[in-house]
Amino acid sequence: MQEKFYLTTAIDYVNGAPHIGHAYEKILSDVIIRHKRQIVDNAYMLTGTDEHGVKIQKTAAAKGITPKELCDENFSKFDQAWKELEISYDQIIRTTDEQHRKVVGQIFKKLLENGDIYKHSYTGLYCSGCEAFLNPKDLTEDGLCPDHLKKPEEVTEENYFFKLTKYKDKIAEYIKSHPDFIQPAIRVNEILNQLENIEDISVSRTKSSVQWGIGVPGDETQTIYVWIDALSNYITAIGYDVENPSDKFKTLWPADVHVIGKDIIKFHSIYWIAILMALDLPLPKSIFAHGWITIDQSKMSKSLGNVIAPHDVLVSFNLEKPDAFRYYMASAALTGKDGNYSDEDFKEKVNADLANNIGNLLNRSLNMLVKYFDGEIKPEFVSDKNDKIAVLASNTKCQIIECFNKFEVAEAANLIVSFADSVNKYVTENAPWTLAKDGKMLECGKVLYNVLEAMRHIAILLYPYCPNIAQDILIQLNEKVDFKYDNLIWVGLKPAKITEKEMIKPVFLRLDSEFATDKKKGK
Ligand code: MSP
Repeated sequence: MQEKFYLTTAIDYVNGAPHIGHAYEKILSDVIIRHKRQIVDNAYMLTGTDEHGVKIQKTAAAKGITPKELCDENFSKFDQAWKELEISYDQIIRTTDEQHRKVVGQIFKKLLENGDIYKHSYTGLYCSGCEAFLNPKDLTEDGLCPDHLKKPEEVTEENYFFKLTKYKDKIAEYIKSHPDFIQPAIRVNEILNQLENIEDISVSRTKSSVQWGIGVPGDETQTIYVWIDALSNYITAIGYDVENPSDKFKTLWPADVHVIGKDIIKFHSIYWIAILMALDLPLPKSIFAHGWITIDQSKMSKSLGNVIAPHDVLVSFNLEKPDAFRYYMASAALTGKDGNYSDEDFKEKVNADLANNIGNLLNRSLNMLVKYFDGEIKPEFVSDKNDKIAVLASNTKCQIIECFNKFEVAEAANLIVSFADSVNKYVTENAPWTLAKDGKMLECGKVLYNVLEAMRHIAILLYPYCPNIAQDILIQLNEKVDFKYDNLIWVGLKPAKITEKEMIKPVFLRLDSEFATDKKKGK
């Protein structure tokens, strides 16, 4: 058994509130880590917030509060959202945490002492609107900043630079010799191309342009640029220290996966890897870049007014538990591809998969068990592991493990649904109601056993996506609530009286059911 699995998410900027794009990443990560906990002893998830930088400084100034006050206010919104979505992180780091700030200072100092960081006078095209140097390639045809439509000024600034070029060949070699490093693999060429044109990067800003950040050790005039600060969270959170790394760090590092959006893959697969090489630390095993979530097929943006908060989705569908939303988001896009959210699609998908396919299957089979056998599974009903459904269950489990090894979260969800589809077909083909009518009670009992044992498997496989529904299924099957994969052995369900009529309840109500609508109207 693999001993540990360390997963990190990107840390979110706290200059606003969380939206369903941020939620998408945290849900994908949570599904992965919950799946790993079913298999691995020590599966650890880190998430967090990225709190320094000029945007926070400006937003706080506009609101008339300090940057720290703004960070505290927005950090709570993120943390609250993750709790509501039942994101089971083990740790949440804030880059304003004292320990993080201290170790980032140490990291910068070590890179400086080793000659990986040097001071350099730089002349570039500076846009005061962006408060950043622009790449001449990104200007409009008339040489204007594309966002502010202003001509950038030629400015000379003295900054610290990181010798990225020194690591260029080593990084390329690493990427080529580790085919599982960048996932999905379709991104590999894009990164290798970017590496071709890489230059040394500026890793500090003058205090006069950015005050809200970690100061460069021993230089009053400079602030560490936000990416060195942000990326280091993956090691500072778990106790990295240049002099004396903690046991926790030694156990967990290197990360098994950094889950991030496709927009920040360059920072992770080039900048971060070079920093780790310079610190002489082991490299992460993989970087998984997910796609982008759009709303009704358009990009989410404040100016379009189409930003959706995860909390609002739960409220508008009157959902007390996050399972349906988690399930929908986790299956919204195939690995690495973009996905889309729409209320209509959400309703259709969860009604079809969770209510009709999975929920009804459990409901019908338990009701038949009550009707024909007074809710009891008799010893002679227990089938053997070569039964068609038993074989399918075992194959589905193996395929799901393979999917998760490639971070194919939506693909794994599809496998659960198609397993439930097959079990539904099996019920139709074997018609236990006809068997009962014809007095073939042993055959009828065997069919019901297979279906209920399949439901037990479905609960365990569904758990990472829908922890509450999965738990309800096991409770209704009178099973202990334990989602470890060790329990995925056919004939886990033991002969016993497992239920009574009054105990059978739908595990998920259709979103447009009368009851759900009544609840929405506050009846
Ligand atoms: N702070 C940086 C990350 C530093 S990691 C060391 C950042 N923050 S962010 O708030 O802009 O984005 C956080 C994560 O959310 C990123 O992985 C980003 O790709 C993801 N998403 C932000 N909007 C998104 C969508 N609309 N859809 C999917 N993911 C999105 O980048």
